[in-house]
Amino acid sequence: MHFTRKVTQDLTWVGVDDRRLAVFEGVYGVPDGVSYNSYLLQDEYTVLFDTVDKAVYQTFFENVRYALQGRKLDYLVISHMEPDHAYTVEALLTRYPETTVICNAKIQAMLGQFFELDLSDRLYVVKEGDTFSAGKHKFTFVMAPMVHWPEVMMTYDLTDKLLFSADAFGTFGALNGRLFADEGDFFGESMEEARRYYTNIVGKYGPQVQNVLKKAAGLELNYVCPLHGPVWRSHFGDFLEKYLQWSSYTPEEKSVCLAYASVYGHTENAANILAGKLVERGVKVRMFDTSVTPASYIVANAFRCSHLVLAATTYNAGIFVTMENLIHDLVNHNLQNRKVAIMENGSWAAASGGLMKEALSRLKGIEFIGDKISLKSALKEDQLAQLDAVADAIAAEICPAPPVFTVAESAASTGEKLPVDDGVFKFMTYGVEVLTTRVEGRDYGCIINTAGQVAASDPRKITISCIKKNHTCDMIAKAGKFNISILTEDAPYSLFEHFGFQSGRDVDKFAGVPYDDRTLNGIRYIPQFTNAVLSCEVIDVRDLETQTLYIANVVEAKVLSSGASCTYSYYHAHIKPKKNPAPAQKEGYLCKVCGYFHEGSELPADFTCPLCKHGPEEFEHIVPEVRSAVKGYVCTVCGHFEPCDGELPKDYTCPICHHGPEDFEPAVQ
Ligand code: FEO
Repeated sequence: MHFTRKVTQDLTWVGVDDRRLAVFEGVYGVPDGVSYNSYLLQDEYTVLFDTVDKAVYQTFFENVRYALQGRKLDYLVISHMEPDHAYTVEALLTRYPETTVICNAKIQAMLGQFFELDLSDRLYVVKEGDTFSAGKHKFTFVMAPMVHWPEVMMTYDLTDKLLFSADAFGTFGALNGRLFADEGDFFGESMEEARRYYTNIVGKYGPQVQNVLKKAAGLELNYVCPLHGPVWRSHFGDFLEKYLQWSSYTPEEKSVCLAYASVYGHTENAANILAGKLVERGVKVRMFDTSVTPASYIVANAFRCSHLVLAATTYNAGIFVTMENLIHDLVNHNLQNRKVAIMENGSWAAASGGLMKEALSRLKGIEFIGDKISLKSALKEDQLAQLDAVADAIAAEICPAPPVFTVAESAASTGEKLPVDDGVFKFMTYGVEVLTTRVEGRDYGCIINTAGQVAASDPRKITISCIKKNHTCDMIAKAGKFNISILTEDAPYSLFEHFGFQSGRDVDKFAGVPYDDRTLNGIRYIPQFTNAVLSCEVIDVRDLETQTLYIANVVEAKVLSSGASCTYSYYHAHIKPKKNPAPAQKEGYLCKVCGYFHEGSELPADFTCPLCKHGPEEFEHIVPEVRSAVKGYVCTVCGHFEPCDGELPKDYTCPICHHGPEDFEPAVQ
């Protein structure tokens, strides 16, 4: 029996879920299954976008026949020749002999490799920027080499502003009836599998993904239709942010991915002790036994975390096999820009530490932190100081000094309702505040500069506004109440970094905070570097497009200190670090609030900073100084540019796709 769903009035999803597949691509376990997406357009012509894996062909053909509603199939667009999407191309073209295939030249070549098909009079070969009309719907084609194979292309529907994105923006996991990402809790339930899909399937090809993202940045997108996982019709920007981080090898969070390989438990014991020391210092740790957890999960977390700790015993004079496999995967997936601490074990000739360092040293932007810890069979008492030293070094980077949270005891009662002390209002300036709330037992907080008193009658009223993409903004909508802690001039920059430059979606900002000061509403506040706290209950909400305005009654208010309020201008003049002006290497836009750099010649009008969520008005256009052109060769397969003033060596191979000099052509960049 067919099962289809409408994406738009004219476009129908005709894909199929597969929950019986044990290992995707023969290597990645998919306990939640996977979907193979295919889409059928009904216009003056009928157009099918991609086919599916052989495992689900029967339902797929029922879906296509049902969606065609008795019409013939005019066109098949092939985006990607990997058999999870193209296995059934031959069977489809046999069933529908009048169908013309639309593809690019590389796909045409691969069709000949996979199938014995004579398509000489059934082929329409397109290239970058070519257009095609199905009637009402007009399409253009966007080449996306190495996302994830060299022949990949995307198709953009200019009419509905809909992108068929091939493997990009896909996710492991069956759809389970939910076609659209917003029909489930994608960011809560599916993000782990989306990360594992990206990092393991296309993680190696960050520069190529960035190239496609630059092309996509110029497109208006109402829908994004990937070949796996849900369709995007809202909140796509939040997912795009993740792609920006993953493809630029930027950690999502300041935390440690600790992976260990242990035969008899001694290395595991030392890893556990080190994990405890890190957590005691306020560091978030994600810990894995490489003999238990498949490498794809650990690779995904290595992309997520800023720091790695790798601990392995020596085995056959090398690295224990499961850790060796993990390191092989990290290197092959091109992980970059991470700090790594190493621990080895060996009862007579420890070698794994040096070998792990040697392998990881091949990766760009890898720095080793702390001295290598070398165990001889088991951790000894006199080695605890070495673990402390590594934990200190990591904590110093993740939880920078001076520590924000050093208050020993609560400064306000939490048992009895406090009166509203009118003294707090004299501290309200165009200043900077920590906004906190609490939902379902979890605390949230962020930095704002928008609190102000708007009514002095009883009850006093204030307004705040929050950037909508800020997670705390959503949480206030749920909680209906919040606290404002007014910051003073002695607040350290680390406090702004902590609450302002990371998202409560990714980290628990209160994890490891050693105090638990709350007002009567149960919401935390900041008792240090502040002069007042106000507890508020939301009475009205206004939509300000990019922001939400909350109007609230003040129900408790207490003066905490006599320190001067930190105004917005004081923050910029005295707290925010000044950047050394360095000559720009690339054209782009620099966020003046947090320093995030968006590469490209244009900044979309609806762009929001992935770190601090501010809009284009806070970005400065950076144009690099004119530099002399670099001669070299560009790979016609994957787009890699190799600087070279003469001939490419005959034995040269592309570091990305491994093609030789015959696939390169001269270029200047
Ligand atoms: Fe889903 Fe690269 O195939």
